[in-house]
Amino acid sequence: MSVSLTHYLSQNLDQDEIGKAVKDTVLSLCNSSKIIAQALSVNGLTDAQFGDQIGGLNADGDSQKALDVLADKAIIQEISNYPVAAYFSEEQDEALLLDKNGSLIVCVDPLDGSSNIDNNLSVGTIFSILPRQAELFEPDYLMADALQPGKNQLASGFFVYGPQTSLILTTGNGIAGFILSGDDFVQMEWQPSLQESSDQFAINMSNMRHWAPQARDYIQKCLDGLEGAFARNYNMRWCGSLVADAWRIFRQGGIFLYPEDNRQNYHAGRLRLIYEANPIAFLVEQAGGRASDGKTPILQIKPQAIHQRIPLIFGCRKDVLNYELHHSNKP
Ligand code: AHG
Ligand code: MN
Ligand code: MN
Repeated sequence: MSVSLTHYLSQNLDQDEIGKAVKDTVLSLCNSSKIIAQALSVNGLTDAQFGDQIGGLNADGDSQKALDVLADKAIIQEISNYPVAAYFSEEQDEALLLDKNGSLIVCVDPLDGSSNIDNNLSVGTIFSILPRQAELFEPDYLMADALQPGKNQLASGFFVYGPQTSLILTTGNGIAGFILSGDDFVQMEWQPSLQESSDQFAINMSNMRHWAPQARDYIQKCLDGLEGAFARNYNMRWCGSLVADAWRIFRQGGIFLYPEDNRQNYHAGRLRLIYEANPIAFLVEQAGGRASDGKTPILQIKPQAIHQRIPLIFGCRKDVLNYELHHSNKP
């Protein structure tokens, strides 16, 4: 018997005010995901050029595409009906204050994998829900709330807009996968586990000459195959959409690496801590995997800025620990 997302949320959240706020906010994000998926399905038709750059740069210096902005607006419109005190987004320079009595802080990457919008490849939306701690409904106080360590998250998840519109979600009680079927997200009969090691790695190999020695050494040992130090043949995948690589890792296992490198602006890698690394790390840890910056678990890291980047290594627990072992052997 298929289980709806609504039922899953009722079973896995407290029936108190905060639990209801989280449930309603997740369901509102589902509404925005349908709007985004629908727009993508016609992208490229005359009046639907959603991969076009629209001139602005976001706070991280990335050029904004039409779908980045459409997704951001759709999410704001939906969550504004619920007790969300402040919204933080890749596409918003600062905090967006919403409900002065709101109990939640929501951090979002509205459209992840923007470089793939016109490629008919999977892209997605990543979200993180934190508790509001601030007494005052003031930007500085709410900004501090967005900078809580990831271990404080109440829920996190990501949507993938691909052959299926899907969702992986955690409310802190394991993780679950859902597929949009008709108008409802229906739970998949699937319990991902990232305990064991794998033979698959995901990294953008074109940056190899820029990586720190430990990343180059780790990947070289993967490439060395059966005769090498890891005594195993590996396969490589890289989608250019974090959500697509993450979904595959939850389904098949593997390790994802976006390490720091010596290019300008990449000294802390490319991915942002509060709306990419933290939500993914919460899911990965809940599935028995591990997510770190190569040394420290992501969920333990105290963010210093809302668009702060962080090196992100996540996936099968034993693979990430093995990478950290290499990382800790810095000369
Ligand atoms: P976004 O589109 O939100 O900026 O995220 C893109 C990220 C992530 O989705 C992906 O893993 C990574 O950028 C790809 O980076 P490269 O283009 O450097 O490979
Ligand atoms: Mn992204
Ligand atoms: Mn994005």
